[in-house]
Amino acid sequence: MLPNESVEKLVAAARAARERAYAPYSNFPVGAAVLCADGRVFEGCNIENASFGLTICAERVALFNAVAAGCLEIEALAIVGPGADPLSPCGACRQVMVELSPDAEVIMAGDAGVRRRSVRQLMPEAFAAEELGRTRPG
Ligand code: THU
Repeated sequence: MLPNESVEKLVAAARAARERAYAPYSNFPVGAAVLCADGRVFEGCNIENASFGLTICAERVALFNAVAAGCLEIEALAIVGPGADPLSPCGACRQVMVELSPDAEVIMAGDAGVRRRSVRQLMPEAFAAEELGRTRPG
């Protein structure tokens, strides 16, 4: 479990990223921030498209930013939505978390407080590299 001061920093980064959300269709801005084992933090926001299905969630943008920068050891992922309640990540993002951040702690933050879960708690019995007879690199 991440120490409280690191949780606060990561949630603050997710909040800052939420300010950059491109969500003109849903008006539902989301921010995310990933903490890598080497201490680097990568942010993401949701980015929508007039062709709605091309929209990408904040969590995946943050995770892809981290991997594109060479980080495959992800310790935690914070998510901040627009509402008072913690935002629960969508199924597609959970599948990507299983691939890219299987050992991460997921911190869902709302005005009222945070909910903390492991990726395995959010995505039990997931389809993953093992099902293909592979082990995950990194
Ligand atoms: N969204 C996220 O960015 N993360 C989630 O976990 C749930 C949904 C975005 C996608 C879309 O831009 C908007 O929120 C409404 O679904």
